[in-house]
Amino acid sequence: MKIGIIGYGSMGRMLLWKFSESGKIERSDLLVSNRTESKLEEAKEIATILSKQDLAGSSDIIFLCLRPSDIKGVIEEIRDFISPDALLVSLNGSVSFDSIHKVFPGKTAKVIPSLTAEIGRSQTLVCFDQNATEEDKENLSGLLGCIGEVIELPENEMGMGSELVSCMPGFIASIFDVICNSAQAHTSIPKDQIVKMVLNTMSATGDLMLQKEMSFEEVVRRVATPGGITCEGTEVVYEDLPKTSDLLFEKTLEKRRLTAERAEKSF
Ligand SMILES: NC(=O)c1ccc[n+]([C@@H]2O[C@H](COP(=O)([O-])OP(=O)(O)OC[C@H]3O[C@@H](n4cnc5c(N)ncnc54)[C@H](OP(=O)(O)O)[C@@H]3O)[C@@H](O)[C@H]2O)c1
Repeated sequence: MKIGIIGYGSMGRMLLWKFSESGKIERSDLLVSNRTESKLEEAKEIATILSKQDLAGSSDIIFLCLRPSDIKGVIEEIRDFISPDALLVSLNGSVSFDSIHKVFPGKTAKVIPSLTAEIGRSQTLVCFDQNATEEDKENLSGLLGCIGEVIELPENEMGMGSELVSCMPGFIASIFDVICNSAQAHTSIPKDQIVKMVLNTMSATGDLMLQKEMSFEEVVRRVATPGGITCEGTEVVYEDLPKTSDLLFEKTLEKRRLTAERAEKSF
């Protein structure tokens, strides 16, 4: 199976190198194309560099790792070369299948990976249009297994799904950055040590909950004795954090709606 990647930016580069590192795909089956060709110099050792049209004509799965404003133009450049059996995969959540089908009527999927793919722990979201076959689903999900777990969602849930797995590393990092800064104001422990202590505790708490199937309430109950010190802190969190959390989703979902509207107009 030949895998083509158009766009060698943050996402295209990550996918190409992770597919190669998996050891499951031969160099001759990995094809890549980018607008600025000089950026592909480093990719020569793991993939074949082709024009977009040659890549489209040779690939069974074509990943479009492009910003929304570039997607329509690139599809128009390659659509006559794509084999009827090939699956076109957009990495952008804002461009709908309806928009893509205005310029390409073939089999299409959307994929949203997470930054945690860097350590093989992406929870990659996928959704398929009505043209995709069971074989397409198996092939794409099998391939994405190289970077972690695969979660299939209906198209209308890709937005919130993206908030939960693709944006969440940013949300988590910013929340704990705030917490570490507050901690620093009250201690002489150096910042890098604070960060390490908090990150290891965060990661271990997540693993504990997943492995022991513990709920958030259970963890809070086990640590925060009523009237005790932890309880003082968890009460502040449950009192003050909901308004920040609600605002976060209101803002991101509105931004997502506006981005989708703009992407729709570009088609
Ligand atoms: N970053 C994330 O965490 C993340 C997560 C999930 C999904 N996504 C989605 O993935 C998509 C790509 O994001 P990104 O962060 O990888 O973007 P990026 O770093 O800006 O990369 C875009 C790439 O597309 C190339 N390109 C643009 N027009 C082209 C054309 N006509 N022909 C060939 N190549 C072209 C650019 O080439 P040049 O080298 O010439 O600029 C660049 O290498 C976006 O739609 C984004 O929403 C991103």
